[in-house]
Amino acid sequence: MKVTKAVFPVAGLGSRFLPATKAQPKEMLPIVDKPLIQYAVEEAVSAGITEMIFITGRNKRAIEDHFDKAYELESELEAAGKTSLLQQIKGILPSNVNCIYIRQPEPLGLGHAVLCARPVVGNNPFAVILADDFMDVRQGQPTVMQQMSEVYEREGASILAVLHVPSENTRQYGIVASSPYRQNLEFVNTIVEKPLPENAPSNMAVVGRYILNPTIFSHLEGLGKGSGGEIQLTDGIAALMKQEKVLAYRYHGRRYDCGSKIGYLKAMVAMGLKHPEVMKEFRDFIDELGELN
Ligand code: G1P
Repeated sequence: MKVTKAVFPVAGLGSRFLPATKAQPKEMLPIVDKPLIQYAVEEAVSAGITEMIFITGRNKRAIEDHFDKAYELESELEAAGKTSLLQQIKGILPSNVNCIYIRQPEPLGLGHAVLCARPVVGNNPFAVILADDFMDVRQGQPTVMQQMSEVYEREGASILAVLHVPSENTRQYGIVASSPYRQNLEFVNTIVEKPLPENAPSNMAVVGRYILNPTIFSHLEGLGKGSGGEIQLTDGIAALMKQEKVLAYRYHGRRYDCGSKIGYLKAMVAMGLKHPEVMKEFRDFIDELGELN
């Protein structure tokens, strides 16, 4: 079965990025000239997803505006003859893509955010994309979501993107223990949210890309508060695993944790060095800095 729906939980407060996120959503922070949420949506589009479901909260209107028509801006760009910018603005979303916004009234956790999408997702498999996990792949290579959709179509089981992290960082992630299944795919035996290094079953961490079967919803529904006093997606997946196969996928690509300052800076540098408009001058600047130090 093909995955055509993606859920973007974007209600989080972005407290790790204050004061930048005091009056704007963290998902609108740009990497060079494009907001994180646009990269995330483009990744979904690349995988053939056509229904984008945003789970939003207060102070997130800028995301809706970003994917909406901008009449004033468009007519001004048109009048000024700035056709290439105009095309860029108008082409943010392909015409076959729909955006749906659902408000999560309280930030009760990622599991709760995903459950909010249930009325729209219904009985279909769906992707969950966390925009602050920015995923880059080499030019011409399939995006991480494309890779995962292919795996889903073949396997029909829920899939979590995973990455090895240093042991001291297990407390920042959902951590899985798994056994080998197929190439780059593991069979998940255990999943725990944010364990301390001494309790972690491994150092294989879940990063912000999931494809889930809709059976997850009934497990999320009954959940109480988990780690950090929040309703955790990880706990829903742990319950799902008891009834059906869940796979961990070692994707090809590089992940930047853009919820952290250092990850964001790294992503900005990496993408700046690839951006056709600025790459040359930026590379010279980086070299110059290196020489100074
Ligand atoms: C969330 C999930 C966690 C996952 C992480 C990936 O945590 O709860 O399981 O490993 O995203 O970025 P958060 O970063 O929102 O605290």
